[in-house]
Amino acid sequence: MANNYLKSESKQLATWYFTFAAIIFGAQLVFGLVAAIQFVMPSFLYQILDFSIARILHINALVVWMVFAMFGSVYWLLPDETEIETVGIKVGKLLFWVFAAAIVVVVLVFLFIQVGPADQTTIWFITEGREYIEAPRWADIGIVIVALGFVANLFLTGIKGKQTGIVTVLMADMIAFAGLYLAGMFFTDNISVDQYWWWWVIHLWVEATWEVFVGAIAAYGLIKMLGAHRQVVEMWLWIEVSMLFGSGILGMGHHYFWIGTPEYWWEIGALFSALEPLPLVAMFVHVLYDWGKTQGAQEAHGDKVSVIKNKPAFTWFVLNAFGNFLGAGVWGFFHTLPQINLYTHGTQFTAAHGHLAFFGAYATILIGMFYLAVQGKNGIKVMKSTKLSIWSTAMITGGVMGMTVALTIAGYVQVIVERAQMGATWSGYFDSQSGVWFTQAMDWRLLMGVITFLGFILLATDLLRTGKSAIHER
Ligand code: HEM
Ligand code: HEM
Ligand SMILES: [Fe+2]
Repeated sequence: MANNYLKSESKQLATWYFTFAAIIFGAQLVFGLVAAIQFVMPSFLYQILDFSIARILHINALVVWMVFAMFGSVYWLLPDETEIETVGIKVGKLLFWVFAAAIVVVVLVFLFIQVGPADQTTIWFITEGREYIEAPRWADIGIVIVALGFVANLFLTGIKGKQTGIVTVLMADMIAFAGLYLAGMFFTDNISVDQYWWWWVIHLWVEATWEVFVGAIAAYGLIKMLGAHRQVVEMWLWIEVSMLFGSGILGMGHHYFWIGTPEYWWEIGALFSALEPLPLVAMFVHVLYDWGKTQGAQEAHGDKVSVIKNKPAFTWFVLNAFGNFLGAGVWGFFHTLPQINLYTHGTQFTAAHGHLAFFGAYATILIGMFYLAVQGKNGIKVMKSTKLSIWSTAMITGGVMGMTVALTIAGYVQVIVERAQMGATWSGYFDSQSGVWFTQAMDWRLLMGVITFLGFILLATDLLRTGKSAIHER
């Protein structure tokens, strides 16, 4: 890979975004561990960092690091795809600092102020109280300005430079991604209406716009790492985009079953969300097919087979194909029909799906992008796996899988005891969660969480060390 890093300010900005993302990822895991310890030891940090606050920090950090890494990915690939420097990069750099500073302030407020009075001051300065996007309104407005700047960078560059399918898809996708955030910004005092719009952000992000983003990144990665043919990769991308939007938009109905919306959402939600795994199968096949095809072509030419230009990144991209399909497709499909969701709604089953889906669909491919950036930054031609990269990949993936299995078991206990046997009563809630199956599952989740966290430390070490090690071809 030619070292065009030094010449490209866009790529430098991307590495800032990636670095900040990795730090917030670490923070996410720390707060997850705090919340997991509190399940096992309820008095842990009581009234200092209560479960509610640890949970807010865990899941908002999740969203923030992923958004940072997504912006970083776009700044990273733009010069490669458009063959020009990103337009307005100075403004882009300034906005990075605005964004990072705003996030730090929001985190400090969550940590130290935590709650406020039930009036407008809390909404403006402490928290808006919508799960996953709990930042106060001043920060919301800041985030919108930063996002607009980012979209402007992308559009001006896309229009001026070479227009590939990947860039075109990203242009459409990122404007939808930024626009949807607005649906989570206004306040109504009707909880059904509030939830209705809130899902426009949460569901339409992760099951439509973010998935399209992943399709575009996977296409870019396959071209970079395998030398896959652009025509083939982009053809897949268009198919995936149409399928994702086809099922994802009305699939949102699976969140409208029990929030006070009309009952026709049962049918709409059941039908369209049941179709949602299809594009994920397509994305899965796409990665494996291109991999196989490229190897076949190399064999036919008598080339050395499988010169994957970046082994660790490619491993994470393949894990993405599997993880997206398993976490979103399979674990999502499990509970997406209203007849089943009646029993599983809001149990640890949901948390099992939430963990595997966010991890499988997004954490994996974004970690892959970290590796592509480390390679580009250090001008490494062929990047091999290291002991650390192998161990960290195994521990993070194994840890999250382990947590998912533990949470799935806990969810089943809730479904059977709390919902089926005891009819979703108050005492059923406590009976199911004090039983041995549930409490042991929480122990296992904590253990698996620790393994995930240790894996993260190894990952960070590997990323920081790669530039210095000599095993790579330059
Ligand atoms: C990468 C894509 C996805 C991500 C990141 C994701 C993540 C999540 C998360 C975090 C929740 C919990 C939301 C809450 O706090 O209430 C959730 C709920 C849900 N997801 Fe997904 N999901 C994805 C794809 C899917 C797909 C493809 C399906 C169906 C085929 C699905 C079905 C559901 C259902 C039915 C619920 C509601 C659970 C309940 O009633 O408690 N998800 N998802
Ligand atoms: C050190 C590892 C981790 C631990 C110990 C951990 C622990 C937790 C705990 C205790 C909760 C609160 C669950 C509840 O309200 O009952 C939670 C929620 C959540 N975590 Fe994690 N987590 C970890 C890593 C991750 C990772 C890697 C991801 C995704 C990439 C993730 C995504 C989520 C999501 C989406 C939720 C909300 C789930 C829902 O509302 O259904 N976590 N986590
Ligand atoms: Fe959804």
